[in-house]
Amino acid sequence: MSKVTVVGAGNVGATCANVLAFNEVADEVVMLDVKEGVSEGKAMDMMQTAQLLGFDTTVTGCTNDYEKTANSDVVVITSGIPRKPGMTREELIGVNAGIVKSVAQNILKYSPNAILVVISNPMDTMTYLALKSLGLPKNRIIGMGGALDSSRFKYFLSQALNCNANEVEGIVIGGHGDTTMIPLARLATYKGQPVSSLLSAEKLQEVVAATMVGGATLTKLLGTSAWYAPGAAGAYVVESIIHNQKKMIPCSVYLEGEYGESDLCIGVPVILGKNGIEKIVELELTAEEKELFAKSAAAVHKTNAALKEVGAL
Ligand code: LAC
Repeated sequence: MSKVTVVGAGNVGATCANVLAFNEVADEVVMLDVKEGVSEGKAMDMMQTAQLLGFDTTVTGCTNDYEKTANSDVVVITSGIPRKPGMTREELIGVNAGIVKSVAQNILKYSPNAILVVISNPMDTMTYLALKSLGLPKNRIIGMGGALDSSRFKYFLSQALNCNANEVEGIVIGGHGDTTMIPLARLATYKGQPVSSLLSAEKLQEVVAATMVGGATLTKLLGTSAWYAPGAAGAYVVESIIHNQKKMIPCSVYLEGEYGESDLCIGVPVILGKNGIEKIVELELTAEEKELFAKSAAAVHKTNAALKEVGAL
């Protein structure tokens, strides 16, 4: 029996739970929220699609009752407030740090062996906070950002190439921020061909720029932050872990010298399997890409420093 808990039954958490159920990633999915009745209601609504969609996963909801989450294999943390138009993800730190820390501590009381997938923003910093405050081995704490950013990169590439997003390969590394993420255009391919041989440098630059502000563009359109792709990206990460798929997915993970950085969580490609992070993949970067990565890491370190200022670490 496999069990996944999703903490936070807002737009992102509920979408994640819905994708997990629809794809039968786990036998059991539990949603937990602080708002009375919301996760129970969403879970019942989802279960009423089981016959229509043909899935056998059981989804339940609970209001702040951590006992119900006991013995989860993987726990997805989406708790906290989302950004409003014009806000950066980094501005959420004061409110979200306290929430994420207490959620993670409660979860571990009932699921001491769980692998944690962090979605709450600022995602790299919340992942770092979970890692530092819980003292878990680094293979068990994974920030979802790169999976989402890479999916957006493939979307924008597919738009430019007029093809299906599944025909494109692309990786985004670095921080999950409007100015910190690094879509690796040089390594992106379409049916095995470098996209740089199919798109002009100018077009490729447009794709990179659109990817970087992908979340902000949606926040502006929606009045709150996006949820379909963030929720699905969380489920994609969970699936590779629960089904031991060993997919290579860019995620925010703790570095200890890899890519020349240490003491932070930031997006790099990792192999995800039943142990969580099974391997950090070190890509050969050009001097220019290395410089971008170092700048991105410096920005993430700066946001992490705010954890001390708000008393979270
Ligand atoms: C986004 C938020 C979830 O990128 O960070 O849409």
